[in-house]
Amino acid sequence: MGQKIKLGKRQVRPKGNGILDLEAKYCSWGDTVHYAKKLKVFDRCEGIYLYDKGGTQYLDLQMWYSAVNFGYKNPRLNEALKRQIDRLPQLACQYLHEEKILLAAKLSRRIELAFETEGRVHFNVGGSSAVEDSLKLVRNHTGRNLVFAFMGGYHGRTLGASAITSSYRYREKFGHFSDRALFIPYPYCFRCPYEKKREYCDLYCLRQFERLFETEYYSVLNTKTKKCECGAFYVEPVQGTGGYIIPPRDYFSGLKEVLDRYNILLVDDEIQMGFFRTGKFWAIEHFNVIPDIIVFGKALTNGLNPLSGIWAKEELISPKVFPAGSTHSTFSANTLGTTVGLETMKLIEESDFVNEVPKKGEYFVSRLKQLRRKYPQIGHVEGLGLALRIEICQKDGYTPNRELTDAVMNIGLTGRLRAGGKRQGLILDVGGYYKNVFTLAPSLYIENREIDLAVELFEEALAKGITETS
Ligand SMILES: Cc1ncc(COP(=O)(O)O)c(C=O)c1O
Repeated sequence: MGQKIKLGKRQVRPKGNGILDLEAKYCSWGDTVHYAKKLKVFDRCEGIYLYDKGGTQYLDLQMWYSAVNFGYKNPRLNEALKRQIDRLPQLACQYLHEEKILLAAKLSRRIELAFETEGRVHFNVGGSSAVEDSLKLVRNHTGRNLVFAFMGGYHGRTLGASAITSSYRYREKFGHFSDRALFIPYPYCFRCPYEKKREYCDLYCLRQFERLFETEYYSVLNTKTKKCECGAFYVEPVQGTGGYIIPPRDYFSGLKEVLDRYNILLVDDEIQMGFFRTGKFWAIEHFNVIPDIIVFGKALTNGLNPLSGIWAKEELISPKVFPAGSTHSTFSANTLGTTVGLETMKLIEESDFVNEVPKKGEYFVSRLKQLRRKYPQIGHVEGLGLALRIEICQKDGYTPNRELTDAVMNIGLTGRLRAGGKRQGLILDVGGYYKNVFTLAPSLYIENREIDLAVELFEEALAKGITETS
């Protein structure tokens, strides 16, 4: 018999007693991704760990899809939020508060130093909203509403962001997307879409993209006016949801050369890879190109009061061309988010992530490569900074093995691993075109001994998974 639970004036008798019964009855699943077989309720967090109600510790290797780069409950960032809550927690964005301005200035100056280009910053709340804002910017500047984007790319789930996200599955139920992007193969060298080998390919994929502009009959260019039907190319410098795929270092500079020929903007989506995930402030800094627009979110506030935004070159976003109200939202530039964002920037300035993150990443990758020698099911391991990928395959080391990937993830979530001398769990995120890639985004503060523990936990889960699925 279900226990009576008081919800306001109404008495509700759920089928069972527990919180999961309420979840089953009252929570939409549309706002989440229910990947785990067994739903898990977490109670608290600290550093690199989540804890469930029973106090079991779970080492987190995904940190809220890379939103918590600076560790759970980072004391400095939490304090900044608490101070702001007691001082100026709310303010309509038609009025000014210092933190918004200082944060915009810090971000713009940092970008100016990295890319020698002046521009401005514009805030919103979620990543997808910032993507929407960038789409308006592109339309406003180019007068065109079509864009290129990558196969395997993910830019969010609002209507506009879904239109430039490759999966038809995400759009299928929501009508016709007349401004759907033209999707181009990503340089995914482990599974090259053109079945080439990186050592000899001479960036064949890029040449194929370039060929689209050879004749008007390839559909994208008016060869007489040199006008392309697409106003921009949306890129993730390291493909996130697609499986933390790291492109060849000379790919994006080659791409930009082609785009510049036809006045196509380069929009750099750093929502998942920004803020030192890859060992540089922006992941695109690894690739020697200057983007026209940068979109960011997630780790800017370490997952506290959400804040996202875009930076764009001055000619795209100056108030003359993109005036007040262009994409306004009530909570954009909110005082809590901008305060934490400003503190994040100060924390970054006082840290040495540029040296520390690559070292930790190399150590992590070296440990995973040791595992790979032991388990042929680990088909591919690679990392850029602390954005790491483990591709899980059949014994041939190539055929994707989704079943094993799911098993390992669910075993981690049971919280019953014994590695490390006590019962604990492991949080893993699954991505990739075949849902067979563990996309690891640990805290940037993870230490080598914690990396050792993570690898030990992963090995235990993998070994159990192999037994379970074979
Ligand atoms: C690269 C990228 N772009 C856009 C988004 C959408 O951001 P949000 O989920 O905050 O709307 C995400 C989210 O995972 C992302 O990884």
